[in-house]
Amino acid sequence: MIKNTQVLLAKRPRGEATDDCFEIRELEIPELADNQILIRVCWLSLDPYMRGRMNDVKSYADPLQIGDVITGESTGIVIKSTSADFSEGDPVAAHMGWQSHIVANADDPRLMKVDLNNGSLSAHLGVVGMPGRTAYFGLTEVGKPQPGETLVVAAASGAVGSAVGQIAKIKGLRAVGIAGGAEKCRYVKEELKFDACIDYKAGNLAAELAEACPDGIDIYFENVGGDVTKAVAPLLNPRARVPICGYVSNYNDEDITASETPFHILKSLDTVPEHRFFVVTEWRDRWVEATRQLGSWIGDGRLKYRESIGEGLENAPKYFRGMLKGKNFGKQLIKVADAD
Ligand SMILES: NC(=O)c1ccc[n+]([C@@H]2O[C@H](COP(=O)([O-])OP(=O)(O)OC[C@H]3O[C@@H](n4cnc5c(N)ncnc54)[C@H](OP(=O)(O)O)[C@@H]3O)[C@@H](O)[C@H]2O)c1
Repeated sequence: MIKNTQVLLAKRPRGEATDDCFEIRELEIPELADNQILIRVCWLSLDPYMRGRMNDVKSYADPLQIGDVITGESTGIVIKSTSADFSEGDPVAAHMGWQSHIVANADDPRLMKVDLNNGSLSAHLGVVGMPGRTAYFGLTEVGKPQPGETLVVAAASGAVGSAVGQIAKIKGLRAVGIAGGAEKCRYVKEELKFDACIDYKAGNLAAELAEACPDGIDIYFENVGGDVTKAVAPLLNPRARVPICGYVSNYNDEDITASETPFHILKSLDTVPEHRFFVVTEWRDRWVEATRQLGSWIGDGRLKYRESIGEGLENAPKYFRGMLKGKNFGKQLIKVADAD
């Protein structure tokens, strides 16, 4: 008899989320009621925002409570259905946490059908999933890109950043990436075709950024905050836009409410650039449009992506910690089970 393995929040982290912050439990899988499906999860997405949910701090979403299944999106296959809308074998995405099996009501808004014409099951958690949509809407709606402008994005080899720079190139901008280490920078420049990529760990970020952006910066897509934002700030042009997507360099701070955020840095400038925090759910009614557009760019070779794959739900905490320190190279996923 198959069981459901879940990963729960056992303790709130102070700083990094250590192993004792997580607890693994196994549960019987209940019989399906009418209009329900059972999903075998194949892929779990690990995303930086999950660290924020572990704090007892209200943000745009409620914090997790101790004993809750860790929040997260996964993709998998329907293995049982009592719903007319789903059949066995259907690929689906669900935002229902770190677990190996999911029983869901067929009309649960956290459930989405997956069209494999747009990308693989795993890609629906990355480049054609939430991170890809974040790049698409954050750049086009908040960044308002114009051909010929210069865009800078950090975490440039990561799930969101890699898509932001490539979409900027598609829209006719100069794209400059910032990433940790020579190999990530080589990938961003040579394979993703950004115009330049700077290794912020090499110790010369401000000077190299000025050299890579001779006409200043028109859009800074904010993913990381901290020293990177401070290096970008003096190069922002008078009408620059800064979509604030996240600031991962602060996520492991012991008290993030006391951290210096990009808002503090940007508001202290003589010319304050147009900036705002956005959440991808603002455009929920246009997700299908974005998924199709991203899928078609993958199809014609203009949008490339890379995945970092860890094996097994029990290893998710280790890979989650690693991602927040840049150990991932591309979208961080956990392979939970085979699709067949
Ligand atoms: N607002 C939204 O709706 C939304 C949705 C999705 C994601 N996000 C945000 O988008 C950002 C990127 O997320 P992602 O899923 O694409 O993750 P990711 O870039 O695939 O992984 C995180 C990356 O952050 C970089 N990093 C970690 N610490 C850093 C530091 N101190 N300074 C500079 N870079 C650092 C690392 O890359 P390097 O090795 O290159 O340093 C690491 O690989 C995050 O801030 C996340 O919260 C926001």
